[in-house]
Amino acid sequence: MHTLDCGRTMLGLTVVASLAFIATAAGVSSSQSTDCSYLSLLNHLTLTSSDEALSLTRPVKNWTTPTAVMLDLVLLGILQLDEKSQTVTSHAWIQTSWNNEYMRWNSSDFCGINMLTIPKSKFWVPDIFIQEDVSDSGSVEQSPLVSLYSTGWVLAKARHRLTFTCQLDLFLFPFDVQTCNITFSSMHHTGDVLQLGSLNNAAVLSTLSETLMVTEGEWELDNLTIIHIPYTSIVTDGNRLLYVVRLTRKPMLYVINLIVPLLYFLILDLASFFIRGEKLNFKVTVLLSISVLLLILQDMLPSTDRRMLLMANLCVVVFSLVGMSILETMLVEFLMALDDCYPQKDQSSVSTNVKALQEVASHTEPAGAEEKGQVDPVMSPKDQDLLKLILEEVKAAHQKMERPGKEERKPGRYTRLAIVINSVYFSLYFIAVVIYLVCMYLAWVDGIEFAGF
Ligand SMILES: *[C@@H]1O[C@H](CO)[C@@H](O)[C@H](O)[C@H]1NC(C)=O
Ligand SMILES: *[C@@H]1O[C@H](CO)[C@@H](O)[C@H](O)[C@H]1NC(C)=O
Ligand SMILES: *[C@@H]1O[C@H](CO)[C@@H](O)[C@H](O)[C@H]1NC(C)=O
Ligand SMILES: *[C@@H]1O[C@H](CO)[C@@H](O)[C@H](O)[C@H]1NC(C)=O
Repeated sequence: MHTLDCGRTMLGLTVVASLAFIATAAGVSSSQSTDCSYLSLLNHLTLTSSDEALSLTRPVKNWTTPTAVMLDLVLLGILQLDEKSQTVTSHAWIQTSWNNEYMRWNSSDFCGINMLTIPKSKFWVPDIFIQEDVSDSGSVEQSPLVSLYSTGWVLAKARHRLTFTCQLDLFLFPFDVQTCNITFSSMHHTGDVLQLGSLNNAAVLSTLSETLMVTEGEWELDNLTIIHIPYTSIVTDGNRLLYVVRLTRKPMLYVINLIVPLLYFLILDLASFFIRGEKLNFKVTVLLSISVLLLILQDMLPSTDRRMLLMANLCVVVFSLVGMSILETMLVEFLMALDDCYPQKDQSSVSTNVKALQEVASHTEPAGAEEKGQVDPVMSPKDQDLLKLILEEVKAAHQKMERPGKEERKPGRYTRLAIVINSVYFSLYFIAVVIYLVCMYLAWVDGIEFAGF
């Protein structure tokens, strides 16, 4: 499958190159010469002699003549985009062509031969490099041959596993669009001697990239623009050829993986206000689930201090909202417990006291218990009357205490407060969530529109 694709790619590139050159080599006529071998042509071009002078310098007859170097970049795949290290790894074909004034012939003199393939070492090759390139060594596969056309144009091709740096703007992640520069320039030659240009225009190259794109990963080539920054003076870093590549992320995976769960957890947290009974465990579980999503996000995104990414903003706000709702639940449960605790403690102590007193009062006669045998005989009927009197008093007091208590306990002073707090908090929480989500949606939509959709 892969070799098939490569074959297709080669074919495509060759067709493009040939189209470009045959146009210039028009007027090919039938053979006139008797010797139709390549060798005679090589002899004519003096390439058979071991004269290395040809490969030493720029092939122009008058040194003031600039050499035009044409560069075509075809992206065959976006393999990876690393948000942390801010690099893009791609699979690219780069073809370079330039004019060699010494290598021209009239094809009608050589049986119509208009193209030769010759080892690259025979020729002078321009020293073009990519400024953003951070590829490992060995990621470039240069063809050992170059094509030589009868008009003097030399064409070299290379296949790159090109890793280039790109300042990624992840503000709209995962709905982001990245614009990267791939800048070609010469190491040694200034713009007055080496003029960079492109053989095919951006529309052709981007159509070619789209049709030949082998890997359809997370990224889609959205637009390819070629900018030529001409040479103005030696001081300015001029004469560069800029390929501006715009890539669009396919966000579906992140929507499913991050945004939907986050919103779902938020809704779960909202819904948990309607749970009767134990809420705290549930809410803490939701908070822990959100922190797992935060960990995933942290693995993916770099920490930028310029402005907070919308995705990070969403995570942090949802986390804080759920955290705050846990605190509120704690407060409500504390208030409820307060209500339960204090009145009950008093009542129970009073009632046990009353019970004990009742017990004592009912013991008008010794129950025959050995332990109480010593106390009871001492207690005279007068004492018992007094005790009964005290009991009556205590009962009355107890009832007095209990009656208002019971009326209050129905709603409960603290419970009422807790219910009020809970409903007010829920309303505010709900409104805040709705407003926040609307703002977030607008921010994303605005950002995406601004990014040029
Ligand atoms: C070389 O080129 C310069 C500028 O184009 C021109 O003035 C000069 O006459 C040329 N020299 C020769 C020998 O052709
Ligand atoms: C090539 O040679 C043919 C025949 O000798 C001639 O008619 C033609 O004009 C030449 N073409 C060029 C570009 O010199
Ligand atoms: C790409 O090049 C253009 C033109 O020089 C420049 O304005 C822009 O800032 C560059 N972008 C990056 C990410 O370097
Ligand atoms: C690519 O972007 C440039 C500049 O933004 C624009 O002029 C051109 O029409 C775009 N091409 C396509 C195919 O969208």
